[in-house]
Amino acid sequence: MYILGMESSCDETSAAVVEMSDNARVIRSNIVASQIETHRLYGGVVPEIASRAHIEAISRITYEALDTAGIGVKDLGAIAVTSHPGLIGALLVGVNFAKSMAYSRGIPLVAVNHIHGHVAAAYLSQKDLKPPFLALVVSGGHTSFYQVDDYTSFREIGGTRDDAAGEAFDKIGRVIGLPYPGGAALDKLAYEGDPNAIRLPSPALMGDTLDFSFSGIKTATLNYLNGMTQRGEEINRANVAASYTQGIVGAIVKKTEQALKQTQTKTLVLAGGVAANSHLRAALERLCADCGVWLAMPDRSLCGDNGAMIAAAGYFEFQKGNFAGTDLNASACDDL
Ligand code: KG4
Ligand code: ZN
Repeated sequence: MYILGMESSCDETSAAVVEMSDNARVIRSNIVASQIETHRLYGGVVPEIASRAHIEAISRITYEALDTAGIGVKDLGAIAVTSHPGLIGALLVGVNFAKSMAYSRGIPLVAVNHIHGHVAAAYLSQKDLKPPFLALVVSGGHTSFYQVDDYTSFREIGGTRDDAAGEAFDKIGRVIGLPYPGGAALDKLAYEGDPNAIRLPSPALMGDTLDFSFSGIKTATLNYLNGMTQRGEEINRANVAASYTQGIVGAIVKKTEQALKQTQTKTLVLAGGVAANSHLRAALERLCADCGVWLAMPDRSLCGDNGAMIAAAGYFEFQKGNFAGTDLNASACDDL
């Protein structure tokens, strides 16, 4: 069946057509209108501007997705839309557009959790992937472990107690003068620096917990940068990028090793915007090779927010009969 996936939870308006069945997972189109240039001026996402930009883009993006896939609205078996979590005004644009389209054309509607969407991106790249597995979602808003028992059943077993890894990358990226969002630029810059140049605290919490705390490494890095500036010393930005990346990636790898041991899982899915980080991908590949675990990752192009991952997750909600009505609302929180 053809399923339209719609995503508007943050600063990307996206619509995609994905063909899903028991033995096919094919992306027919995946159109993403990014607002990054608009928000760059402010160094971060401005929620009100994001909502307006979604309103301006959503209709055009949706019809472009259908045209590119070579189908019409009548060919859709379902419409899937991100309903939570995210920026509430931004989410409401997608939810209301999807509800109107579904109601006016008599098409089943399904609500998708954005995090489940990120994980579902892995199904599109790894055709043999199926639950159960352990999922590590690393994004601008989350750094969490989930036990995925079934396509629609997620149990969170660890998470960040403060900032998410993406947020932490973006913050230091901004302070050292990289364009917003700093994550991707920091990834590249880290190759030019010495990862042992600056001593930083680890974001991996001690003990059995699978939680993280990224605020300590962020503050320590800010203090280091302020101290250097006050003493009039030159900052080596590549060393900062390399040391900071090593600290964050090292902590994620350490907790992942613990999570794999605790859950005895043989498949790990890495997903979310930060799953595009080349250092993290390489480090987890090494860990999984050593532990005999299959690391199932979405292609880097599917790690950031996109409609195809929402369509894929929506297909499994559809199969479970989890339909949404015209009373569907959006929620900023992890639960609807
Ligand atoms: O999943 P996502 O697109 O949006 C949320 O759901 O939050 O993640 C966005 C985050 C941003 O913080 C961005 O800087 C980060 O993903 N990101 C990266 C890389 N590419 C995107 N962080 C580190 N390395 C990258 N290559
Ligand atoms: Zn996301």
